Amino acid sequence: RGDALITRMHELIRDVPDFPSPGVGFKDITPLLADAKAFAGVVEEIASRVDGPVDLVAGTEARGFILAAPVAVALGAGFVPVRKHGKLPGPTAAEEYALEYGTATVEVHPFTVPRGARVLIVDDVLATGGTAGATIRLFEHCGAQVVGLSFLVELEFLHGRDVLAGHRVESLLAVS
Ligand code: PRP
Repeated sequence: RGDALITRMHELIRDVPDFPSPGVGFKDITPLLADAKAFAGVVEEIASRVDGPVDLVAGTEARGFILAAPVAVALGAGFVPVRKHGKLPGPTAAEEYALEYGTATVEVHPFTVPRGARVLIVDDVLATGGTAGATIRLFEHCGAQVVGLSFLVELEFLHGRDVLAGHRVESLLAVS
């Protein structure tokens, strides 16, 4: 069952070279999302790998939302959107992180994150780990506890996992 899902993921995740910029390989998950069985399968698989109780599932804008929300429902947890700068009306908690050129900021509404809440972070792709690392710091500054991070795809050659050292990291598909 697990192997069949991984095979299906290989079939349904499209590799797009040089997107959004030259030299970058983009993982297009839209065919996977459009396949009812595969979409349900990955949501179930992410939910089944969680260790212990989860109060909140956090998804990172935009593709993280698509996976994190159904995982939250599957786990009986709440959902927290982690948004890019300027999208939430506030008050916000914010965390900046470095991009290849410049910086980016992730934000949450801290009043939706109780102190001590057990948070699972879900996203489609783990690349450099910049986004996930900033998201961990964001929740920790809110006084929450990040109990794990789950990704559909991990680009192992970018070593994003190293940035997340000390945290439980699950990925359904590792690309080397
Ligand atoms: C992608 C992906 C992750 C992040 C991974 O999002 O969904 O959030 O990049 O990269 P990193 O590990 O190097 O930080 P993107 O910024 O493309 O936004 P989108 O989901 O709105 O397309």
